[in-house]
Amino acid sequence: MTVTELLDALWRDYVATTPQAERIHQLLAERGEVVRNDHVALRTYALPGIGIEALARPFEALGWVMQSDQYRFADKKLDARYWQHPDETLPKVFISELCVHELSPAATRIIEGLVRQLPAGFGARTDLPWAGRPWRVRRAEYESLLVDSEYAAWVAAFGFRVNHFTVSVNALTTFPDLESLDAFLVDHGFTLNEAGGVIKGTPAARLEQSSTRADSIPVEFSDATMRIPSCYYEFARRYPLSDGSLFHGFVPASADKIFESTDVKR
Ligand code: NI
Repeated sequence: MTVTELLDALWRDYVATTPQAERIHQLLAERGEVVRNDHVALRTYALPGIGIEALARPFEALGWVMQSDQYRFADKKLDARYWQHPDETLPKVFISELCVHELSPAATRIIEGLVRQLPAGFGARTDLPWAGRPWRVRRAEYESLLVDSEYAAWVAAFGFRVNHFTVSVNALTTFPDLESLDAFLVDHGFTLNEAGGVIKGTPAARLEQSSTRADSIPVEFSDATMRIPSCYYEFARRYPLSDGSLFHGFVPASADKIFESTDVKR
């Protein structure tokens, strides 16, 4: 597998559940933009064999390098890190994992029941980042997980796949800033995630991000089909550090609100 094949496989799987991303990509292309991705983000459960390290392996095999920063999202019970490729035109890979044993005993039991269904060697698949949902899950289990953690419920429903691609605003040539891109998206009928304000982060934090609200798509549970939020599209503008190099890390306070782009609307 080449880097291009890996990124194509991730993109194809992602747009199948996130039709809005393909429409936005198309709109940008029609303006003459060549879209470059800042990062792709993946989610998993922090359990043996399927945690962050397992999801990272197929990327590491193609040259992505783990960076030293470690992020903790205490409220959401998540840990995260990111990987960078020596070719800086390639997206960073941001992987988070849910500390399952910090959830309620009921939620932990449901997740352990899902993971018990995994075939031997599942976590070692080279296509793990787009392997999809490998377990049967009932609607009541999804709804019960939602009470504890939107993230837990999302992984139960969608399994292993990209949660979002992120357009690099720095690489766009017809938008001077994130505000103008956001205005363009709203003009074209897209809904942005307003949790914590449309734009998360500031130039002083070296990173500004916004995102759409996730599309809702029909998902088949083992006993029912239900429309639930799938994935969203994100937009990031990075600023230089005092030494002039571009900031490549993440800002936990902003990412915390971005995670809510897949929340079920209540
Ligand atoms: Ni992101």
